[in-house]
Amino acid sequence: MSFRSLFLGVGTYLPEKVVTNAMLAEQVETSDEWIRERTGIAQRHLAGPHESCAFMATAAARQALADAGLGPDRVDAVLVATATPDQAFPATAVRVQAALGMSGGFGFDLAAACSGFIYALAMADSLIRSGSARTVLVIGAEVYSRILDWSDRTTCVLFGDGAGAVLLGAGPADGAGLLSTHLHSDGSIGDLLYVDGAVGQREATGFLRMNGREIFRHAVAKLAGAVDEALAANHLTQADVDWLVPHQANKRIIDAMGRKLGLPPERVVVTVDRHANTSAASIPLAFAEAVRDGRIKRGDLVLMEALGGGLTWGSALLRM
Ligand code: ACO
Repeated sequence: MSFRSLFLGVGTYLPEKVVTNAMLAEQVETSDEWIRERTGIAQRHLAGPHESCAFMATAAARQALADAGLGPDRVDAVLVATATPDQAFPATAVRVQAALGMSGGFGFDLAAACSGFIYALAMADSLIRSGSARTVLVIGAEVYSRILDWSDRTTCVLFGDGAGAVLLGAGPADGAGLLSTHLHSDGSIGDLLYVDGAVGQREATGFLRMNGREIFRHAVAKLAGAVDEALAANHLTQADVDWLVPHQANKRIIDAMGRKLGLPPERVVVTVDRHANTSAASIPLAFAEAVRDGRIKRGDLVLMEALGGGLTWGSALLRM
């Protein structure tokens, strides 16, 4: 029997502390006007000391389980997409597994920067389609505030912290669910966006570095390709898409993708104004918001796309 991954529940966590552009402008030479005009960001949530990556991931996972009406005992696998785990190991996913009280199943983290959630969806879908797992928690959780150089105005204004989760479950292959995922990476342009250190490299600082202009240029072209690829693979056209749930890096990139798909702005889910760029958490946070407020309904065709450090990029197409 063949299976498809159904979306059973959504969950989110945003740190308590909200930092507006005006508050940032007291720390670095920037302005609310510059940040809003270039990025669409008005504020971001920043994690406090107790709001670790695993803490936020667990909170989002609990909500996704409650939304689906299932207990943690029903989960076969936990996948956490993150570039900012609390520790090199154990993986954030097994911390979540323990916090949820799961005694069985397995968990692992995967790192694909801002494309991480799309990558994790693809891996979860493979597990479900192959019959290796029936129910999978897919979480994007990030604390970029801990890898930002707070004296570098070209990067520190762009990011926020948070976590989003979906619960996927095996369903029949001919109905709703995840239709396809398409993943790409090109390591030869990895130096456009990177973190200059990790636990294996003690002399480095561990701060995020980015050539924003070049990333912007790649984003529009590569995301347009990923979107076309997803539609063609499913014999669908732009006119079939009900909702675009893009990675939330920059409102100008989001608007360009909406125009490319011929979608009116109200069909594009935007959270970058309130969340800033939460990397792997941004798509599940935006998706959950639109599911909860009733915009995304059963039967709708939803397109997700992301580009991030690596460079990595990809898309996911799903029928609710
Ligand atoms: N406040 C005020 N001025 C600033 C700030 C700031 N926070 N940051 C930069 N500036 C200045 C620059 O110094 C520059 O000044 P200069 O002309 O005197 O040299 C000027 O503003 C313009 O800088 P640019 O970098 O050319 O600005 P740009 O219009 O390209 O916007 C931005 C920068 C917002 C970063 C944009 O390039 C962008 O969004 N890029 C894409 C980022 C992205 O998509 N990332 C996704 C992946 S993230 C991930 O994977 C982790």
